[in-house]
Amino acid sequence: MDYDDIRSSNVPQGTRSGYGRSRRHDETAEKADLAFVAQTARAAAADPGSSVDYADDVIYQIVTDRFLDGNSANNPDGELYSSGCSNLRKYCGGDWRGIVEKIEDGYLTGMGITAVWVSPPFENVTSVDSDAGTSYHGYWARDFKDPNPFFGDAAAFEGLIDAAHDNGIKVVIDFVPNHTSPSTADGELEDGVLYDDDAYVASYSDDPNGYFHHNGGTDYSSYEDQIYRNLYDLADFDQQEAYVDRYLKDAVKQWLDAGIDGIRVDAVAHMPPKWQKTLMDVIYDRRPVFTFGEWFLGADEYNRRYYDFSNDSGMSLLDFRFGQEIRQVLRDFTDDWYGFWDVLRETADEHDQVVDQVPFIDNHDMARFTVEGGETVNTDMALAVLLTSRGTPTVYYGTEQYLTGGADPENRKPMPAFDTSTTAYEVLSKLAPLRQSNPALAYGGTRQRWLNGDVFVYEREFGDNVALVAINRSREWYEITDLYTSLPPGSYADVLDGVLDGFGTTVNGDGSIDAFSFGPQTVCVWEHAGNTSEPALGRVGPTMGRTGHTVTISGEGFGDVAGTVTFGSTEAEVVSWTDARIEATVPPLAGGYYDVTVVDADGAQSDAFEGFEVLTAEQVSVRFVVDNAETAIGENVYLAGNVHELGEWDAARAVGPFFNQVVHEYLTWYYDVNVPAGTSIEFKFVKIDGDGTVTWESGSDRQYTTPSDSTGEYVGDWRT
Ligand code: NOJ
Ligand code: NOJ
Ligand code: CA
Ligand code: CA
Repeated sequence: MDYDDIRSSNVPQGTRSGYGRSRRHDETAEKADLAFVAQTARAAAADPGSSVDYADDVIYQIVTDRFLDGNSANNPDGELYSSGCSNLRKYCGGDWRGIVEKIEDGYLTGMGITAVWVSPPFENVTSVDSDAGTSYHGYWARDFKDPNPFFGDAAAFEGLIDAAHDNGIKVVIDFVPNHTSPSTADGELEDGVLYDDDAYVASYSDDPNGYFHHNGGTDYSSYEDQIYRNLYDLADFDQQEAYVDRYLKDAVKQWLDAGIDGIRVDAVAHMPPKWQKTLMDVIYDRRPVFTFGEWFLGADEYNRRYYDFSNDSGMSLLDFRFGQEIRQVLRDFTDDWYGFWDVLRETADEHDQVVDQVPFIDNHDMARFTVEGGETVNTDMALAVLLTSRGTPTVYYGTEQYLTGGADPENRKPMPAFDTSTTAYEVLSKLAPLRQSNPALAYGGTRQRWLNGDVFVYEREFGDNVALVAINRSREWYEITDLYTSLPPGSYADVLDGVLDGFGTTVNGDGSIDAFSFGPQTVCVWEHAGNTSEPALGRVGPTMGRTGHTVTISGEGFGDVAGTVTFGSTEAEVVSWTDARIEATVPPLAGGYYDVTVVDADGAQSDAFEGFEVLTAEQVSVRFVVDNAETAIGENVYLAGNVHELGEWDAARAVGPFFNQVVHEYLTWYYDVNVPAGTSIEFKFVKIDGDGTVTWESGSDRQYTTPSDSTGEYVGDWRT
């Protein structure tokens, strides 16, 4: 019997069973402090929803040039353009108008998509490199304040925003503040040229003011190296230069004012982390939108700094841990569900808010999930896992059409068709709405209910809402025994309607499910949406802000009548209140971390959301430099001071470790730090060794008044 026979033959349950290392566990991957509960479905289909809470959304990532040519009049001429897209490194004509067409004809909404992430929308270089080709991908910006004319003009962008919003879809732009474009040795492109609203500013070789780093290319040997040297040959911004800082922040404000609902930040591992925190402060002050960064991780790559960035920067991250692992389990078969479960637990432990991260199965920087000549059912199964995962699922355009292709540009082929009858399209259209109707998917923790290398049964739960997902990735049958669930007793239909060979089930009074035989390459999804009556807090966003900023609190069971929201022990002004979503204003508080708690009109209290960061004031980035700081092996320099941003004299919260290799070299140390603007601060440099032993500088505290609206620099000698 070959594989097709197994899939199509109707083997009765129980006739084949019990292979190998089946093993039952019951463990939970959820933050103890992040409570349970839910949110009701978005009121109207055409409501684009919250621009800060994407937990119940599904994002669709579009390489704008490769999706659909909706207006051939804006296509480039000559060398830049490839008719029929035979040259994948040239522009192929796709544009914002094409996306509008697919929104308006129901292709995206029919799949349950509620947000699109589009290529960087701003003007790029227009020359052609004989190897790398053109800027069709959008990552070679020339003028961050103008639209890319090949995607459309300002009116066309507005048309995209309007059509999306009219159809309940949010628009996320890709923002690229790390660099302009390549400055290649052969001089073929445009030398990293930068324009400011059409006015020439500088290029990489004509840079008298030092707007770019001139430290050579990075070999990724350290965090410092990858931040302050060029990524490939891309002209690397010095964000600490006042003009660059202002330019990038003004540009992002301009796109926010154009009505975008979210931002994907490119290459966050290549920019000073604390400068990015000042960027997030600017974004949240202008208009809070969900923002997630790209910190690329390879397969099995664990990086402490990745999690530190996720928990400190104020932005979420693309979930590369999830993405790489699901590819090992369902695409490459180099790992199994045990490894996947390890990653789920790790990410739940390490991220302060794992529901805020952005998982995916493929993207424009890795081979397509579907393997040429491989089984499309692997893609279908991966999409089912993705759509029922914690975090906001992102689907790469064309995955639903089983596009294949290896490294870029092969993974960026044009959409081959807009076929709404593929199995993948069906899987998405059945599971995406569940994210909105059952808050267990948006806010729940993940619990492992049955596990072996091939079979994974996991449960998502929030308040009175439960979803149970069972997947068998293999061609074997397994006997599933001793399966327990939090689903209430009763019968449940497969949410996927058998599209992936799933079936209904019955839950007994004690929460058990009778033993059953689980067939090859099958996914079942069973769910119960309850009606949580006590306040259950799902997420808070943004997770940092200033006094007066609006924060959105999502969950279920808040009640229809407003109660109270507190930050620490201080009550916040409530701006709006529904059973599933509250908007409140950050009260006048000193900078610090505060618990956010909801109390409903009847006095019932939610669990606390821990660690909302109140910033002292508007943030500016200051480079602190200390000369002649001699250290022992294992010892590093940090900064500690009197404001929240500098740890309030708590050495355990000192900022650093400082760098000492690229911009300045040992014995000089430096670090770019977010500090409150226009503030007189007191601080000292400190040395901390590997055991945590702290050596404070001697003498009196240093004093410095931070700039009111720009970057700054402080230089001093270590005081022995
Ligand atoms: C990551 C982007 O996703 C990739 O496509 C791009 O080439 C680099 N960053 C540089 O912008
Ligand atoms: C080619 C990739 O297609 C593009 O995404 C990237 O920006 C450049 N390489 C970097 O030089
Ligand atoms: Ca076009
Ligand atoms: Ca950089």
